[in-house]
Amino acid sequence: MRIVLGVGGGIAAYKAVLLLRVLREAGHSVRVVPTPTALRFIGRPTWEALSGEPVTADLFDDVDQVAHVEIGRRADLVVVAPATADLLARASAGRADDLLTATLLVATCPVLMAPAMHTQMWQHPATVANVATLRSRGVHVLEPADGRLTGTDSGPGRLPEPEEILTAALGLLRARDLADRDVVVSAGGTREPLDPVRFLGNRSSGRQGIALASTAAARGARVTLVAANVEAPLPSGVEVVRVETADELRAAVLAAAVRADVVVMAAAVADFRPTSTAAAKIKKTPDGAPPVIELVQNPDILAELAADRPHPGQVVVGFAAETGDGSATVLEHGRAKAVRKGADLLVVNAVGDGRGFEVTTNDVTVLDGAGRVVTGASGTKEQVADVVWDTVLARLAQTSPSPS
Ligand code: C5P
Repeated sequence: MRIVLGVGGGIAAYKAVLLLRVLREAGHSVRVVPTPTALRFIGRPTWEALSGEPVTADLFDDVDQVAHVEIGRRADLVVVAPATADLLARASAGRADDLLTATLLVATCPVLMAPAMHTQMWQHPATVANVATLRSRGVHVLEPADGRLTGTDSGPGRLPEPEEILTAALGLLRARDLADRDVVVSAGGTREPLDPVRFLGNRSSGRQGIALASTAAARGARVTLVAANVEAPLPSGVEVVRVETADELRAAVLAAAVRADVVVMAAAVADFRPTSTAAAKIKKTPDGAPPVIELVQNPDILAELAADRPHPGQVVVGFAAETGDGSATVLEHGRAKAVRKGADLLVVNAVGDGRGFEVTTNDVTVLDGAGRVVTGASGTKEQVADVVWDTVLARLAQTSPSPS
């Protein structure tokens, strides 16, 4: 396989030399793309001698070969080590001011980043936001190791050991397991208009749906993301259909589902909408009488998808955000819903008290259509998404073994 090893300008660049060796020993050809600053730590002859390939850092070297396009386009995997705070910031902003960042903009293959920096830089809100943006786009950003840093200080910020980066890299090369699969993911929360300025909505940020879309794309799937009012940045490499209401979401999902191997309904769809939408803003009345808003039930898209599949092998997955109450626990509510909806899998998570909505982590239980527990997952929404896709793949192996 062809691997691009991007090297950021930090002292841990010397460890990337060892990483280059182990990648080569694992049988891969490696094109090293250092940033200009990285070359101040480790020079070009070292990279060229160990990779056996030419090394440039600048967009203006080898212009005739359009290096920034060719290197990114031909790569099966890009590994960035060390990913410095500056490099993470430039990559998350989509800058293209050196050969490495330009390569990152062109590459459609999986990208793995191994950060290394001082603890304060790693924990700074700017870096935290940049890492979240990159992850939401499907970039795999490793957690830095905790230990001795440059000088005498220690804490989280050490470059993970080369063997650990190698293991993650080889895992990504293997993990194109959704290649040639068509998937549809709905994300976000619908808004049902009351009048031109007000709507009935919900707290869904769309992050779990976006994580499902970006991880599926990273695993090789063709992804349609039906996004209802999402706040988080959208992943690249997926087809996005923006919708507002449950009705629009239904139309977009049903249209895309016709050719899909998998449909995942991660969106929070309003169960009710106002019977009619006022043409002008609803005004307060002089006598203070509150307006009466009549609601009508929305169609249950998930139940409809599950009951009426365009082809029998299609896997339909629902999500259920539940709170326990006096009548049943979160899981009991989830079991009843799994049976009621008829989907193949239902991903149940507890919400409220800062869990589930508007946060970057999740803790879920995956049930089958009969309400039996298949698996559980907790961690970042990307980690949870990967477990959902693992479970979906096991289903697909039974229902439609060969990609359509
Ligand atoms: O019934 P509840 O809203 O809890 O079910 C959640 C699941 O059903 C989610 O997968 C959601 O996307 C889907 N749903 C739907 N149409 C609705 C309401 C929910 O597809 N009208």
